[in-house]
Amino acid sequence: MDIIKANNVSYHYPDGTVALQNISFTVPDNQRVAIIGHNGSGKSTLLLLLSALLLPTSGYLTILETPLSSKNKAFIRKSVGMLFSQVEYQFIMPDLLNDVALSIRQGSKEEKKQQAIELLKKVRMEDRLYHSPLALSSGQMKRAALASVLAKNPKILLLDEPLANLDKPSADDVINILSTVNMPIMFATHSAYAVAQLADRVIVLEKGGIVFDNGVTAALKKYSKSILI
Ligand SMILES: Nc1ncnc2c1ncn2[C@@H]1O[C@H](COP(=O)(O)OP(=O)(O)O)[C@@H](O)[C@H]1O
Ligand SMILES: [Mg+2]
Repeated sequence: MDIIKANNVSYHYPDGTVALQNISFTVPDNQRVAIIGHNGSGKSTLLLLLSALLLPTSGYLTILETPLSSKNKAFIRKSVGMLFSQVEYQFIMPDLLNDVALSIRQGSKEEKKQQAIELLKKVRMEDRLYHSPLALSSGQMKRAALASVLAKNPKILLLDEPLANLDKPSADDVINILSTVNMPIMFATHSAYAVAQLADRVIVLEKGGIVFDNGVTAALKKYSKSILI
């Protein structure tokens, strides 16, 4: 099954900025796709479309066999998990335990709490259960936000620059967590390391169009000195 089908998708912001222009691609189940490109190339816009927070201004986008439309956007939003680049906007509850538990859909209150603790263990934040998500270091905050996104048990995981502002140990933490996650992933990145560690496929955006869609080895060879750091 293809979990994503994009057919000639464009997105123009209300002020007229063309962020994506006629992009087409499909993603089979369980693939891990890196989206790379210079600043302003359309990576975040693509992830916002895939999380049904924006609708294409033209073209067709089908996510989990559901055509993205205003009628279907609520269903798609529930089914995908999105980690924003600025995770501080992602937290809703005043402490980590409740924030993660809020995203868990099944079970009694006590079961949700136990599952939330398990997830916070997975991201090595179990000693911060009652801390404010906003009073954490950037690496801890990213790991906590990841626990909240995983708590939804999404069918597709979308990550906008998951390693941005992280030092090497924190970046390794996030990569290790993502390596163990068993779900299709699409992530925007500038990191050659993240591409090498996580991706099966690389899509390159340039000025809102796809200019490369191929394997990791070819992408690293071609873009290591220009796009990736
Ligand atoms: N809210 C917005 N309103 C108008 N233009 C925007 C908005 N957000 C992004 N853009 C523009 O859309 C283009 C693609 O941006 P974006 O998807 O954020 O790129 P990337 O994530 O690759 O840096 C850029 O030209 C950017 O300036
Ligand atoms: Mg971006």
